[in-house]
Amino acid sequence: MIILEVLECLFPSNMAMLVWRMMRGMLVLGACKMMLLEFCPSQQHDCLGGYTASNVQYTGTGITADLKLAGRACDFYGFDLKDLRLTVDYETESRVHLKIYDVDEQVYQIPESVLPRPGGAVSARDSALAVLIVENPFSFAVVRKSNHEAIFNTSGSDLIFESQYLRLRTSLPPNPVLYGLGEHTDPMMLLTTDYTRTFWSRDAGMVPPGTNLYGNHPVYFEHRVKSNATHAVAFINSNGMDIKINNTKESGQYLEYNTVGGIVDLYFLSGPGPIEVARQFTGVSGKPAMMPYWGFGFHQCRFGYGNIDNVAEVVRSYAKAKIPLETMWTDIDYMDGFKVFTLNPESFPLDKTRELVDYLHAHDQHYVMMVDPAVAYQDYPAFNEGKEEGIFMKTANGSIYRGVVWPGVTAYPDWFHDKAQAYWNGQFGSFFNESTGVDIDALWIDMNEPSNFCDYPCNPPEEFVTATEPLDPIIPANVANAQKLISEFGVDSRHSERGISKRGKSDKMKGLPGRDLINPKYSISNLGGSLSNHTVPTDLIHANGLAEYDTHNLYGTMMSATSRGAMLSRRPTKRPLIITRSTFMGAGAKVGHWLGDNVSDWGNYRRSIRHMLQFASFFQVPMVGADVCGFVGDTTETLCARWATLGAFYTFYRNHNNPWPAVGQEFYQWPMVAEAARNAINTRYRLLDYIYTAFHKQTADGTPVLLPMIFLYPSDPETFPIHLQYFYGPSLLISPVTEKGSTEVTIYLPSDQFYDFHTLKPISGNGSYITLTNISYTEIPVHIRGGSILPLRVRGANTTTALRKLDFELLVAPDGHGQARGELYLDDGESLVQEATSEIEFWFDGKMKVLEMNGTFGYNAGVRIGNLTILGEKGPVICVLNKTLKGGFTVDIKEKCASV
Ligand code: GLC
Repeated sequence: MIILEVLECLFPSNMAMLVWRMMRGMLVLGACKMMLLEFCPSQQHDCLGGYTASNVQYTGTGITADLKLAGRACDFYGFDLKDLRLTVDYETESRVHLKIYDVDEQVYQIPESVLPRPGGAVSARDSALAVLIVENPFSFAVVRKSNHEAIFNTSGSDLIFESQYLRLRTSLPPNPVLYGLGEHTDPMMLLTTDYTRTFWSRDAGMVPPGTNLYGNHPVYFEHRVKSNATHAVAFINSNGMDIKINNTKESGQYLEYNTVGGIVDLYFLSGPGPIEVARQFTGVSGKPAMMPYWGFGFHQCRFGYGNIDNVAEVVRSYAKAKIPLETMWTDIDYMDGFKVFTLNPESFPLDKTRELVDYLHAHDQHYVMMVDPAVAYQDYPAFNEGKEEGIFMKTANGSIYRGVVWPGVTAYPDWFHDKAQAYWNGQFGSFFNESTGVDIDALWIDMNEPSNFCDYPCNPPEEFVTATEPLDPIIPANVANAQKLISEFGVDSRHSERGISKRGKSDKMKGLPGRDLINPKYSISNLGGSLSNHTVPTDLIHANGLAEYDTHNLYGTMMSATSRGAMLSRRPTKRPLIITRSTFMGAGAKVGHWLGDNVSDWGNYRRSIRHMLQFASFFQVPMVGADVCGFVGDTTETLCARWATLGAFYTFYRNHNNPWPAVGQEFYQWPMVAEAARNAINTRYRLLDYIYTAFHKQTADGTPVLLPMIFLYPSDPETFPIHLQYFYGPSLLISPVTEKGSTEVTIYLPSDQFYDFHTLKPISGNGSYITLTNISYTEIPVHIRGGSILPLRVRGANTTTALRKLDFELLVAPDGHGQARGELYLDDGESLVQEATSEIEFWFDGKMKVLEMNGTFGYNAGVRIGNLTILGEKGPVICVLNKTLKGGFTVDIKEKCASV
């Protein structure tokens, strides 16, 4: 009955009884199990796993309990830990933190330095969620108090907590609506039968669906259809894992975590709307970093430009074709023998490279270069200085671990080393020096899974080996070269024994000792096979004692954080724009992400949308986009034209291609693509402040800048699986043509008022599909959601610097009640800390015939709002406003626009 009292304190009394009945059911289950052990001798030898909770304390803001291994240890994949501790913290009204860890705290946990934790405490009464503990066998449920629904419930499946295996299962309702759990290219609404998502960073050329890719974000959003409520569950664990979603006769529908280590560390976010969940998730992931205004311009890149003259020629050709080019990028071609922090003296001489950068800057354009983590194992400053400081990852015998990447044999920086930041700052400070080096404006970091072309066991010679051609095994022309080098290093019997860690506490290894760090018995479905294949071996121990086995998935995000530090050390006052390949939960607080080595085909074009939405909408990495026109293989004129228009509605818009002999795909290569790109960039730039405002909002409160349709229409089940249409900012529905050779697209319009962005004609959505026809290759269908006011620049411009000098006009798209609202955020576009900003709101009421603008007006943009266009059944009405952006105003539409 004490339990009932506790429940009454947590829930309204009518609900307490209900919860009690549920718990009693679970208790009966536990008792049965005890009896089975006691009276059924044949079962006594079988392990049953599971834990029993005792000493359950309700602290008012949380729960603590001791968990003891019940029955016999299973020792499936290592040994079972006998004594665990449970803590539950109601951190905010919408966030609960639940942890289960070993009492000795030896088991690896993600360091706070990599993912800072929010903490916080509210009274259990004030929480939208309640955690219920069942003592024997131990299980827990997380219940939404408002509708008594268990959003997470582990009863019926025992927790397994072993030295190299963790299993936790929650039951789910039939046909659950689930999203997230990436990085992947699978359908946005996750499959629910026999589906496994694997988490292990991998150099995932061609980004195949159904496989683990570059990054890891073990968070899912679940929408409950009956109650029309969304919640999220974030699992803070960086070990290799499989998350299985299945529906079986015996177990019903469930989601199950299976990891090779770490602890149970979960955050539950109550929503109840999907946008609210996204906002709440920033409490865990951190708020995303704001990007410079120019970063939203169009970027051109290619692997294989080969020399500075070719790069300059591309810049010239864009100007000639009158296609606005904001930023020119250079891949590893600039390096001398692909060594990071070097310039090839013949193909990229310093003076000529600096000349190009000066030219770009003089024309308000920008320049970006790539940096890989792996440093050539050769006699040159970046390697020698790193060696001197001891910052490279080391093997058990203290020698620098050697892998194989572009330059041949390489060493890998250990981002956990306390001198890693200083080392990285030093390399950036001299190589990217404004006065003596290459003055880059932003940074591209790659290969940071970390990638290794050599499979385990990899044993390159200690001598320096230089590759003169790219080694990428996926580029046919280089396969032979790569294979030759790799086969020379690949096989060494000395490494084929199992990699049981012999390291004990003496050499400060953290995490449970005695684990097999190379071949854990539980094998996750890593497409690369062994955990150490194509990456650094998992038995390497970092300078702070953490094993690569536990921290592999953090490597890219740690490189991102260190690189952000290095960019800030060069320019402390400017927002860094850094684009990385490998990410972990929380990466968006530091960097943006491009979607890796896709293929130039229609499938990849389509999948780029859901891949991008995963990051922007669910993972809080809003600066994101795919290689426009595709990376691997030859693109085609029609695919590239369509992709030029779709890419204009990514947040990160970059054309990137693989080396010769793939066809060139700069937008000027075909007249039709050039026209598509000019149109698309023009539209993107007119909308740049609208999207910059939405992006800023995400950095301020987590409201996603890109939204799957379910985010805006969560009560319309038809929207749940849609991932070929999405919202770019809160007001624009993007519906690209998705099939090869087609000029039509069938799109879904929810029951709402819309307007065609190009013709400005109203179109009433009624929750059905319509087919748009005759869509030329130079256009993309865009619809404005009724109820929106869009601040548009009066026209596009050649650069974002020129764009910022143009006036605005307002486009008012009223909803069914004749009302509309919009926002405009203005700042200087580049300072990390803004001295002055403007946060402006527009409000329109068609019945009262009034338009209002108010807000704060700290930043003087020096431009005006010229016209106002009001959309409606009778066609657009244009009125002259001619107002400054220095203070609020109210306009009587009857006076300004006589015909309204
Ligand atoms: C990797 C990157 C790709 C880049 C290439 C050469 O494959 O994903 O974008 O072009 O390396 O640096």
